[in-house]
Amino acid sequence: MRLIISILLIGAAIGAAAFGILGFQGKLSRKPPLELFPDMDRQAKLRPMEPNHFYANGVSSQLPPAGTVARGEPIQTTTGAVYGFEDSPVNTGLVTGTTNFVELNPLPVAAEMIQRGHERFDIYCAPCHGKLGDGNGITKKIGVMPAVANLHDKRIVVMTDGEIFSTVTHGKGLMGAVGPLMPTADRWATIAYLRALQLSWLGSTNDLPAEQKAALK
Ligand code: HEC
Repeated sequence: MRLIISILLIGAAIGAAAFGILGFQGKLSRKPPLELFPDMDRQAKLRPMEPNHFYANGVSSQLPPAGTVARGEPIQTTTGAVYGFEDSPVNTGLVTGTTNFVELNPLPVAAEMIQRGHERFDIYCAPCHGKLGDGNGITKKIGVMPAVANLHDKRIVVMTDGEIFSTVTHGKGLMGAVGPLMPTADRWATIAYLRALQLSWLGSTNDLPAEQKAALK
């Protein structure tokens, strides 16, 4: 008998609890909801532009602390200089604040950089433009890219470094964007190498030292 009474009591208690929690579902109430697991729905925080007493000047939107690094892709050179903030020629290929392409590579060009550019060129550009840059890459040979630019065309030789950077970064005509594949510094290194490659095609026997020129004859 006692057992039966206790089972009934426990049953009634569970029923009441279940009804208490679930029974009012769907009812409208102006009171805050019952939160079994409040997660982080409510927390102490400062909303932007809201007055507060946390900071001395009473404003929640503060200037960035000293030493904050701007968005972008900072590039540190061997000399310790840091380049590459959002609106700088290194990131855009443009003279800051204008729509004019920069004439020259904004990163200091050194032998290591040209070597790196050589490697990158052979990986990222040669499949279409050919290792010589003359437009005879494998994609032309197998017929998937019928008209690839010859990078020794006078038009491209006289193009500013900034415009080539823009072509590489965003693509142009039939050429897709290479920017997403190559870090910024590598794109500039590739351009430095491309300049060396173009220069090598412009050489003549007059550029040879006297002894070598004599040996030619
Ligand atoms: C998938 C093939 C492909 C790859 C990879 C490629 N290019 Fe091109 N590139 C082209 C084609 C095709 C053109 C001609 C685009 C047109 O005129 O429609 C071109 C044009 C150019 C031009 C001339 C743009 C102009 O203003 O006429 C330059 C400069 C150039 N590419 C540089 C590069 C460099 C540097 C790389 C490597 C980082 C590269 N390209 C990688 C296919 C490619």
